[in-house]
Amino acid sequence: MKHILIDCDPGHDDAMAILTAYANQDKLNILGITTVGGNQTLSKVTKNAQNLLGFLNAKIPLASGQEGPLIRKLQAAPEAHGEGGLDGYSFEEKEYPLTSRNAVTFLRDRILQCEEQVTIAAMGPLTNIALLLKVFPKVHSKIERIVLMGGGLSHGNCTELAEFNIYVDPEAAKIVFQSGIPLVMAGLDVTEKAVITEVEIESLRNKGRVSRMAGDLMKFYYESGKQFGFTDSPMHDLCVIAYLLEPEIFQGTYWHVEVSTENGKTRGLTYADCRLSGSQEKNVFVLEEVNRQRFVQLFLQSMEYLDTCHENTCVNK
Ligand code: RIB
Ligand code: CA
Repeated sequence: MKHILIDCDPGHDDAMAILTAYANQDKLNILGITTVGGNQTLSKVTKNAQNLLGFLNAKIPLASGQEGPLIRKLQAAPEAHGEGGLDGYSFEEKEYPLTSRNAVTFLRDRILQCEEQVTIAAMGPLTNIALLLKVFPKVHSKIERIVLMGGGLSHGNCTELAEFNIYVDPEAAKIVFQSGIPLVMAGLDVTEKAVITEVEIESLRNKGRVSRMAGDLMKFYYESGKQFGFTDSPMHDLCVIAYLLEPEIFQGTYWHVEVSTENGKTRGLTYADCRLSGSQEKNVFVLEEVNRQRFVQLFLQSMEYLDTCHENTCVNK
């Protein structure tokens, strides 16, 4: 059993990651979910998380976190995720309670209360995580590793060089990459290979309640991806959860990776020291390849499982 905390900015791919984690609680003990300003404003991404968890009738503690980056202004992504941040499906309004509006102390408490090591699954800008590590250094020894969606060694998506999560808050990313905590980086090198096709999305839409909701959301995200040149839909954040569930479907390499906090062209660039003579500590396991078929099958099977839960009663496998 892995004890995990999910930090996210739902966001369509965040939502698919949360759904898949929720469907696999026999392997993943979700200690809590925290939200951070990113894809949309904090209030919007938090409402999206509440709607999603309410839809599942989940009982997972939820805390909202930082509205924006440590020192820069938030740059949201409505063009990708819509004005609401999770457009494509109208959730029934349900009051899902916030355990806290301070994600940093919430994360600290959940980590220190857990008797075992905790894994952080980070899927948005790293502002909450950076503050956690800086303000409460005593949690370091309780964090087994941070598996994060962010960065990329070959290209960006926000700029030519920078991936969105890192670009939004490069100072926070730098703190996390320099923390010394073992990191697994699901950057664009792998997440843009972790795609779902239109046919696979359509297959969701004639199944049970959860699959239909996921299918409607992914249909929106698929259509919005076309403006960026995608012919299939990259499920960036789902790579974090898929790696935690089935690491064997991924391949990667340990590199020494750093983050540029410069302004201008290199803001948010993640770069590796790939020199044979490179002597710096190889602090990051960078995911590079994924078995796409198994990745998508894991997702579709997880949705089908949630369909049965909702029609009957949800029991851990
Ligand atoms: O670059 C992709 C990342 O930015 C994903 O986490 C997506 O949800 C957006 O936050
Ligand atoms: Ca995200």
